[in-house]
Amino acid sequence: MGQRHWHVTGKVLTAVIVIAAIATVTALALIIRRGLSARSEPTLLETEIARSVRHLATPAAMRSVRNPVPLTADVLADARAHWADHCATCHGNDGSGNTEIGRGLYPKPPDMRNAITQNLTDGELFSIIRNGVRLTGMPAWGDAAGHDDADNWKLVHFVRHLPKVTRGELARMEALNPKTPEEWQQMQDEAAFLAGGNETPMHPMQSQHTDDR
Ligand code: HEC
Repeated sequence: MGQRHWHVTGKVLTAVIVIAAIATVTALALIIRRGLSARSEPTLLETEIARSVRHLATPAAMRSVRNPVPLTADVLADARAHWADHCATCHGNDGSGNTEIGRGLYPKPPDMRNAITQNLTDGELFSIIRNGVRLTGMPAWGDAAGHDDADNWKLVHFVRHLPKVTRGELARMEALNPKTPEEWQQMQDEAAFLAGGNETPMHPMQSQHTDDR
């Protein structure tokens, strides 16, 4: 009896090992063929597995938490400014993920206006923002002690608002988006031009250079 039991267990074990070996070899072969470029799109299977693991890794108690911060116009305005400054580089002001950095990440940020994000619970969204997502470009936000939890809950309101963002809001966010020195320069040049100055504005880099000498 005992011997028969071991016989069956042995067969099952062998089958498991063989299947695991085949899966590993297939995965490796795929990686070698497709390369590790961050430009490619994850396969549907990869996306499904990653999202399921992320879902399971969020404690059930956290998943069912409702947003404790009441939604007001001020809260939304705060979150919008925060989003424009901290999140839009990857996610875009409109949440589409269609930015230079967003397109180059693997996995890419999803279009957060769609059901794939909107169907996540408040608690799940909060947990993703607070803890980030390992092995992806999504960073953890706020300090570990949770002093910024209220800000993160406000961002959850903004994520919910993304499908309804207006053109006026997009324009306000553009003014708040982080700028490269070149973009600042261009903005200043434009402002000087619009103010009616007919001299070419001096380039700050040039003036710095002269001071250095
Ligand atoms: C450096 C790039 C980057 C920045 C900056 C960033 N994110 Fe993300 N974010 C990502 C990526 C990449 C993903 C996809 C992760 C995944 O596939 O699990 C993501 C996913 C998310 C998700 C889950 C969406 C879903 O359906 O899976 C939320 C919510 C989110 N980000 C919110 C934010 C907020 C709020 C900020 C700003 C405080 C922010 N992100 C800043 C890259 C970024």
